[in-house]
Amino acid sequence: MTCGLYPGLSLLLLCLLYSSEGTCPSMCLCVSDTVSCSSSGLTKLPMLLPTFSVTLDLSHNHLSWLYPGSFNRMARLENLRIAHNQLSTLSPGVFQNASGLRHLDLSSNKLQVVEQHYFQGLWRLEELFLFNNKIAQVEAGTLIGLSSLKKVYFSLNQITHFPFFSIHDHSHPFLTMLDLSSNRLTRLPWEDVKALPRLVQRGLYLHNNSLICDCSMYSVFWHWDLRGYDSMKNFVDAHTCTIYGDPRASIRFLRYNRFFHNCTVEKAVMQPVTVLLSNVLVSEGEGVRLDCQTSLNSSDLSFTWLSPSKGYITQASINDTLISLFSNGTLEIQATKVNDSGLYVCTAVDIKQGLNATREVNVTVLLPAVEPFNTGYTTLLGCVVTTVLILVYLYLTPCRCSWCKQPKPPVNPIATYNPSTLTSVFSPSTTDQHKTHTNRHVAFMEPMISEDGTEWTQES
Ligand SMILES: *[C@@H]1O[C@H](CO)[C@@H](O)[C@H](O)[C@H]1NC(C)=O
Ligand SMILES: *[C@@H]1O[C@H](CO)[C@@H](O)[C@H](O)[C@H]1NC(C)=O
Ligand SMILES: *[C@@H]1O[C@H](CO)[C@@H](O)[C@H](O)[C@H]1NC(C)=O
Ligand SMILES: *[C@@H]1O[C@H](CO)[C@@H](O)[C@H](O)[C@H]1NC(C)=O
Ligand SMILES: *[C@@H]1O[C@H](CO)[C@@H](O)[C@H](O)[C@H]1NC(C)=O
Ligand SMILES: *[C@@H]1O[C@H](CO)[C@@H](O)[C@H](O)[C@H]1NC(C)=O
Ligand SMILES: *[C@@H]1O[C@H](CO)[C@@H](O)[C@H](O)[C@H]1NC(C)=O
Ligand SMILES: *[C@@H]1O[C@H](CO)[C@@H](O)[C@H](O)[C@H]1NC(C)=O
Ligand SMILES: *[C@@H]1O[C@H](CO)[C@@H](O)[C@H](O)[C@H]1NC(C)=O
Repeated sequence: MTCGLYPGLSLLLLCLLYSSEGTCPSMCLCVSDTVSCSSSGLTKLPMLLPTFSVTLDLSHNHLSWLYPGSFNRMARLENLRIAHNQLSTLSPGVFQNASGLRHLDLSSNKLQVVEQHYFQGLWRLEELFLFNNKIAQVEAGTLIGLSSLKKVYFSLNQITHFPFFSIHDHSHPFLTMLDLSSNRLTRLPWEDVKALPRLVQRGLYLHNNSLICDCSMYSVFWHWDLRGYDSMKNFVDAHTCTIYGDPRASIRFLRYNRFFHNCTVEKAVMQPVTVLLSNVLVSEGEGVRLDCQTSLNSSDLSFTWLSPSKGYITQASINDTLISLFSNGTLEIQATKVNDSGLYVCTAVDIKQGLNATREVNVTVLLPAVEPFNTGYTTLLGCVVTTVLILVYLYLTPCRCSWCKQPKPPVNPIATYNPSTLTSVFSPSTTDQHKTHTNRHVAFMEPMISEDGTEWTQES
């Protein structure tokens, strides 16, 4: 490689560095800023790694130990792959002065405990791969300070406890994937899990663990399932729990939920939050009534609606004549606008017994279709054209036969209209379809009692 071939100051600098600072170790392959020493039978780190590398691949070797400051001189290092090695622990300072790291792959090693100091200072780290190790414990402070984290993979380990409480909106604003599947989690601190930022909940994978069936567990998954998270949709059958911790009594709880029917009974004594979700379709301008029927049947209930366009609605707050809230909780909107679409959440509170229940209604306001007008217009047009054709036929046919082959001029106007609107004149099917759309569809989902927190159920 000659420096002259590559123009540009940075590359010249790179070449200078290349010749002076660490040449490519013989067992590695160095291409521009990438150094690959994978599958090279390494048992320890080469002493002189090129300092300019941005990507360093050490995977598929026999490394069992990394000395402190191993990557000290590699100021530009962003991607470090050490997958498929024999690391069982990391000594303090391994990643010292490697704070530029963004992707760190330590998967398929033999790590046992993820200690608090392991990733300290890696504040730019975005992706951390730790799957397929022998991790039994993740120390509480492990993720603290890793504020750029986006995806963390802990699956296929033996983790029994995880410090969910250390993850907050402000500490990990970009975290969207936390894979804890295929571990040994039995009972999770569900309160901490429910307090996780929504993006983290959406990307939290917990399937194929040893979860113990109980109502608080079920209620969390039930909500995630309701919200259609991918973690639920893609691993329906891998979500299992064991009854009373007996591994022989394992159920796929997203499919078979009979076991949880008792949750209703048990939790009614405490603080039930019933969530009924229904969908309502309405055309703009039409009125709609949303009822707030919940599991609470006391006659002394107070109701609050949270609406997407108008915020909280209580009987006292209404000063809009187009909206009414009846004493039975029914909310009426007299003329819906497209803006009124969204999730309406009603909370019924039984003050005497201190019970709350929630009702969610997903309202979709459709724009009024323009088809009825088109249909009338094209029908009229059709009539006119037919009349003209008949007149042409009657008046022109007997005398001038050279003209009768050219009835085109009157037909032309039709051609300027979209054929699809013309079909609606003849086939009633499109208008029928439209009618069924404007009818309201109400689909009820199975009621379920969860353990607490209307606030939590009101999300989304
Ligand atoms: C590593 O960082 C420390 C401070 O954190 C600094 O004193 C030291 O000079 C750095 N070493 C190298 C080789 O850059
Ligand atoms: C479930 O986890 C076990 C280890 O806990 C693993 O051996 C197995 O492959 C996993 N199954 C699936 C379907 O991921
Ligand atoms: C549900 O409750 C009934 C009656 O209290 C009880 O007989 C039954 O064993 C319970 N089922 C479960 C799965 O706990
Ligand atoms: C409310 O429900 C309870 C038990 O679910 C029942 O005992 C009570 O009679 C009901 N009250 C009314 C007014 O329907
Ligand atoms: C409702 O009343 C409040 C004061 O009570 C007022 O600030 C608000 O503008 C009113 N809203 C409407 C839509 O009239
Ligand atoms: C609530 O009251 C309104 C007005 O009285 C009534 O039209 C509506 O049907 C009632 N809703 C339910 C669920 O009883
Ligand atoms: C609907 O919402 C948009 C923005 O949220 C607003 O600009 C518009 O004026 C609203 N339309 C009506 C009819 O309220
Ligand atoms: C509400 O309905 C709309 C349209 O049917 C759908 O796109 C949206 O995801 C639904 N929202 C919820 C929270 O179910
Ligand atoms: C019930 O609702 C009230 C008022 O909305 C609220 O203060 C209280 O925290 C709720 N209780 C539960 C268990 O959600």
